[in-house]
Amino acid sequence: MKQIIPKDAFRKITPYSFVFVISHDKGKPNGMVAAWYMKCSYDPPLMIVSLSKRGHTQKLIRESKEFVIAVPNKDLVKEVEFFGSNHGWEVDKFKETGVEIVPASVVKSPLLAEATLNFELQLEKEVDVGDHYIFIGKGCCSSLQ
Ligand SMILES: Cc1cc2nc3c(=O)[nH]c(=O)nc-3n(C[C@H](O)[C@H](O)[C@H](O)COP(=O)(O)O)c2cc1C
Repeated sequence: MKQIIPKDAFRKITPYSFVFVISHDKGKPNGMVAAWYMKCSYDPPLMIVSLSKRGHTQKLIRESKEFVIAVPNKDLVKEVEFFGSNHGWEVDKFKETGVEIVPASVVKSPLLAEATLNFELQLEKEVDVGDHYIFIGKGCCSSLQ
């Protein structure tokens, strides 16, 4: 067994799944891809996502106090690279890709029309962890297709 630094070891945790995190900037939608997410409580229904301090989404969630976690189906896989490597302050990712959004029931962030599951979340808590922020959201509505 050889020792490797934890940062490199993180990258070897495979396979992993990912979701789209949808937020908005005063009504203008933004989306990103996140693999550092999980459900963490049934009652109340809570989900966690860990977001880099360098990204746009962390700022938008802090301002709006809400977000959407969308579990993609295979049709959205081709959009992962674009949503996972461009920042919302420099490009309108929905406009560029044509990924379809639909209004949510409770929150202002939209849902991904093609996603298998969409969770609407209201921000419960934010935790500062190293170079990321953890956002804990309480599910107020979820949609399945
Ligand atoms: C498969 C994959 C998983 C990712 N997981 C995360 C994650 O868990 N947290 C994070 O902050 N960024 C993650 N990223 C990077 C962001 O999606 C990327 O930095 C994005 O451009 C941020 O967009 P924004 O600045 O509009 O928020 C991931 C990227 C990919 C391709």
